[in-house]
Amino acid sequence: MPDARFAELLKADQEHLIHPLHHPSDHADPFICTRGHGVTVEDISGREYIDGLSGLWNVNVGHGRTELADAAATQMKELAYFSCYVGSSNIPAITLADTLVEITDNEMQAVFFTAGGAESNESAFKTARFYWKARGKPGKAKIIAREQAYHGLTLQTMSATAMGGVYWKMFEPRVPGFVHVQTCYSYRFQGARPGETVGQAAARELEEAILREGPDTVAAFIGEPIHGAGGVFYPTDDYWPLVREVCTRHDVLLIADEIITGFGRTGRWFGMMHWQVKPDILSFAKGVTSGYLPLGGIMVSRTIKDTMDSVEPGDRWWHAFTYSGHPTCCAVALKNIEIMRRERLCENAARMGERLRGALVDAFDGHANTGDIRAGKGLLAAVEFVEDRATKKNFAADRKVARRLQAEMMKRGLITRTRPAAGAHPAPGDMVFFAPPLVITAPEIDRMVGIAREAVEAVLGA
Ligand SMILES: Cc1ncc(COP(=O)(O)O)c(C=O)c1O
Repeated sequence: MPDARFAELLKADQEHLIHPLHHPSDHADPFICTRGHGVTVEDISGREYIDGLSGLWNVNVGHGRTELADAAATQMKELAYFSCYVGSSNIPAITLADTLVEITDNEMQAVFFTAGGAESNESAFKTARFYWKARGKPGKAKIIAREQAYHGLTLQTMSATAMGGVYWKMFEPRVPGFVHVQTCYSYRFQGARPGETVGQAAARELEEAILREGPDTVAAFIGEPIHGAGGVFYPTDDYWPLVREVCTRHDVLLIADEIITGFGRTGRWFGMMHWQVKPDILSFAKGVTSGYLPLGGIMVSRTIKDTMDSVEPGDRWWHAFTYSGHPTCCAVALKNIEIMRRERLCENAARMGERLRGALVDAFDGHANTGDIRAGKGLLAAVEFVEDRATKKNFAADRKVARRLQAEMMKRGLITRTRPAAGAHPAPGDMVFFAPPLVITAPEIDRMVGIAREAVEAVLGA
């Protein structure tokens, strides 16, 4: 790329393109990505990097799959778009809904399609309210979510998001009726009683919140089976089964936000399958198409679907969306799932996830600044760094540890996401995330971790 063309693009980017989490300080020297193949991507200067985050936790089958491009082209030539509105349908949407129910082992009953994750969670919240109204309990409207959660950009999903409040502060007031409880963050959880596991304590805190708010006012609880952007927190194995019990006991719907954890990311089709927990509503997006086209949705239980089908037409689920069941996006999702099945990518993610855990432990466990290593369930892992291992004291913000780690990794050919320390303990420390495409091989895992180790050495010492 000639320098003049690069300068032109840079200027246009800075002047005319608004980015997610926009701030010009991030775009003085942006990473302009031009192509991808397998687990690697290439920047505008032709330099290759390992994509340590699968795009944005979504390119599950890896980059450069012409089969997906062909599936889109074939469907576009046949019927690019027609709506799924009242009385209409299309073949890819029907087939995909059927396939999705099948990969939940028929635990879920029916699917509504959106174009992304926030719309999916927004649909989940509205569906929870609808369900309770239809069942004669209109007071059940609140949503309980968790600290460190990320659920999307709409006003409701922003209000469900926590992460220290950074996503709200310039957009408040929040939508009323969103309550937060601690998540099952074993490394930093506060207030577990003697003899209690963190999972038990976190589930107890949820139950206390439901009782405090009044079960007749709470519609649903939402959580990511394993957190993504907040910090890849692995719950203890007792947590989700206990949460399911609490929700059932108090007539609170359980919404699983599987937007990152779905479609093989954790080594199973869905994250909740690790604990045999059945949600009432399951939100998905990202990996359903491996990011080749935008698509998301919710799946609901049979009880919810039956309730939706039982109301009078005037009380229907008045939830409209132009692109629900978009034929081209659904055709790509079908091909994506076919690839995942053919290449047994859930199994590969599980195997490579073990490899990743081992490599992270070998590389970081002995380092003085390693606080916590979270890995082992598929290709979703994080390392959290602290200034003082004994006290869990975080690095001061002006050390910019996460940002410097990211820069050092990029220099060495690995692009991934980091999260800066969010304050003093028990706020999370500086973290590096690992969520490569599910096609990754053992030598690529080793290379990725090797680069991360060198970056840590460059920033924090050996
Ligand atoms: C767990 C989770 N939920 C919801 C969302 C929102 O998805 P989208 O950005 O597609 O709206 C994200 C996005 O990263 C996510 O990680």
